[in-house]
Order: sequence, then structure tokens, then C-alpha cells
Amino acid sequence: MKITIDGPAGSGKSTVARLISLRLKIPYLETGTVYRAFAYILSREEENPNEERAVNLVRGRPLEVKMDVGSMEIHYKGKDITGELGGEDVGKVASIIASFPSFKEEINKYFREIVKGQAVIEGRDAGLYIFPDADIKFFITASPEERAKRRWKQLRDRGEEVSYEEILRSIRERDERDAKRSKYPFKPAEDALIIDTTNMTVEEVTTHILKEIYRCVSDM
Ligand code: DC
Repeated sequence: MKITIDGPAGSGKSTVARLISLRLKIPYLETGTVYRAFAYILSREEENPNEERAVNLVRGRPLEVKMDVGSMEIHYKGKDITGELGGEDVGKVASIIASFPSFKEEINKYFREIVKGQAVIEGRDAGLYIFPDADIKFFITASPEERAKRRWKQLRDRGEEVSYEEILRSIRERDERDAKRSKYPFKPAEDALIIDTTNMTVEEVTTHILKEIYRCVSDM
């Protein structure tokens, strides 16, 4: 069974997807982190990544993505780079390369290659463009202010000093850029279950999703 969990930055989709993977004991893929890995490699090469270089990088299949139950690691040239991908700077470059249509096509092909069987696939558009045939699709969202608050707390806990206003601005900017892409704009899949988590705890969201999955399995 393939379960996709999509949503905008700071919606809490990663936390929830990881919990669902742990509860169901099936592997987990965080697609945004793979985007970030390519962004990280590109931004170490040059300041402004270009489309051709980004596409060629994915075509070279330079990463080793280790999907596991509740966790994922990305290795590059034999080194685990997962811990270096969480910052706002890498996220910004990831959002820029995500606006290149041919890059998106290539990375989506790559995702379909690495997800062999059952998985919880988390991302922006996993149910929309990567696995449109997924068994069950969720779209998790929250207000921009709530998402900025969550992201700010997450970065603070990691020891990064960023102002709330700056994060809110960056979230709005990224939402707009992602939604306005002429090809592959960011939006929920038509058959996705939309969950607004602004006033929900992680536990409530997880329980709600699990109930929907069990209902879907019993109907299969
Ligand atoms: O979820 P995230 O913030 O780690 O993702 C970083 C960027 O990657 C995001 O701004 C858009 C892009 N992305 C995408 O276009 N499609 C995905 N499935 C995942 C991420």
C-alpha cells in the first residue's frame, strides 16, 4: 500500500508521516529532504543553480536514499549528509530548483524508481504528481502563522537563531512561488483528504489519518 502525505512547509507533515510509518511499520520517504540533498550539492558548486545542471545531477543518480521504518538517511559520496539539509538556506535553493519543470520530471522518475513496495511518502506533491495512483492520499495544512510558529520552534530547538517574522515571510514567499509555477503548481490532489491542523495536536492528526487508512484497507 502506498500512502501519500502532502502539504505546505511547516504543516507538520513530516512528523505525522514518520509516526504513521512507525505505527504501520512500513518505510518512509521524505521527498523534500531529497530535493534538499540536490539543492545542497548544487549550492556548494555555484550560487545560482541552473536547470540543466540540476537535471544532469539527478540523472547521475549520485545519492543513496536509505528508506526505513520511521526514518530515512541520505548518503552522498559515502557520507551521511541528512543532518546538513534542514536549514532555511538549503530549503530556499530546493524551492528554486523545484520550479524547474524538467528537474521535477527527473526527480519524480527517480522517486518512482526508489519506492519499490509499501511506503509512506511525504512531500509537497507526492499524491499529486509523484504517485497519482497511491492507495490513499492526505493533504495536511495549517494557517501560515501557525506553520511559521512551528517552524520557528523547530529551528530554535536545533539551535538556529531566526526571527519569527522572517520565517513567516519566507513561508509566504515559498507558498506563492510553489503555487504559481506554470507547470506542476502546488495544490492538493483532487482525491486527497484535506486536514486543517491549525487547532489540532500531532496525536490528533495521526489518529485521524490512521482511522482513514484502516477504513480504506477494510474497503479494499
Ligand atoms: O518540504 P521541504 O521544505 O523540505 O521542501 C523543500 C522544497 O522542495 C520546497 O520548497 C518545494 C520542494 N519540493 C517539491 O517541490 N516537491 C516535493 N514533493 C517536495 C519538496
